[in-house]
Amino acid sequence: MNDLDTLVQSAAEAFAAALTPADLENAKARFLGKSGSLTDLLKGMAALSPDDKKTRGAAINQAKQQVEAALTSRRQALADDELAQQLRAESLDVSLPGRRRGEGGLHPVSLTLERMEAIFGSMGFAVADGPEIETDWFNFTALNTPADHPARSMHDTFYVEGGHLLRTHTSPMQVRYAVQHVKRHADALARGERIPEIRVIAPGRTYRVDSDATHSPMFHQCEGLWIGEAVNFTDLKAVFADFFRNFFETDELDIRFRPSFFPFTEPSAEVDIAFASGPLKGRWLEVGGSGQVHPNVVRHFGLDPEKYIGFAFGLGPDRLTMLRYGVNDLRLFYEGDLRFLSQFQ
Ligand code: PHE
Repeated sequence: MNDLDTLVQSAAEAFAAALTPADLENAKARFLGKSGSLTDLLKGMAALSPDDKKTRGAAINQAKQQVEAALTSRRQALADDELAQQLRAESLDVSLPGRRRGEGGLHPVSLTLERMEAIFGSMGFAVADGPEIETDWFNFTALNTPADHPARSMHDTFYVEGGHLLRTHTSPMQVRYAVQHVKRHADALARGERIPEIRVIAPGRTYRVDSDATHSPMFHQCEGLWIGEAVNFTDLKAVFADFFRNFFETDELDIRFRPSFFPFTEPSAEVDIAFASGPLKGRWLEVGGSGQVHPNVVRHFGLDPEKYIGFAFGLGPDRLTMLRYGVNDLRLFYEGDLRFLSQFQ
């Protein structure tokens, strides 16, 4: 074996011994680098005769090509190894479901409102929607709560320009809806004919200056109104019984009326429910206000209180949502934390 064959062989051995790309580059420098063995041989040619230069040069070049070929193939082998190792490490389970873009969902309180609409809908209640920025007239005066009425102080709210305010309850919808209903049937009324009953709920956002674990400055109410010629408290209790048993999916639930006061109902009652089992067993929980619509309010509907009578109620959908899902802090609903909210999907 001549010196060039030996060199090619030891290069091939050095390359084979390199186990990482960095080792391989170091080995390459020893043979092909600026002060590598092959470079030294080329430098040594300066002293040769022109003929010898030719043959020696060709031989060295051939050796160089062999070394380079060995280097290239070792580089490729190391790269292949690395890829194979990476593939083994990052093994892919193609049977896993793909990652989809996160789907949105309804807010728990919206779920409650939908549920309320469906249940009251099944009892023949229409669903009405109205402005959250209200006039003083609809929010208070039409509801038998004139400017100097002490009940107004319990409804501290946010006033905006032009005598408007953020509604403190959904009760203004009683008047807005009834007035429309009466207008639609004005001709029949004028002829002294009987008009269809008013049966409506009006869910939506309401506002008060109030903020703690069970009160939020923005909260929800669901107003209810049923006006006819002989609608009474028995009907009201039946509607509540039907509603709450459906809503909480249990018949083991009691309802009681507790005497109360609202300027727009007379008599008035708070509505409490109590579960016969479960974690809240036997505790009376306040879920809304109600009462027989005050004659002055019936007059503002455009109806004769001697002929038309009925009840109104206001339920708290936030409270109902807390009870249904066992949530104890109302503020969780309004912090926008998806870890909390996505549990309801
Ligand atoms: N609007 C009353 C409130 O916000 C509740 C209510 C509605 C009471 C209808 C009676 C009738 O407290």
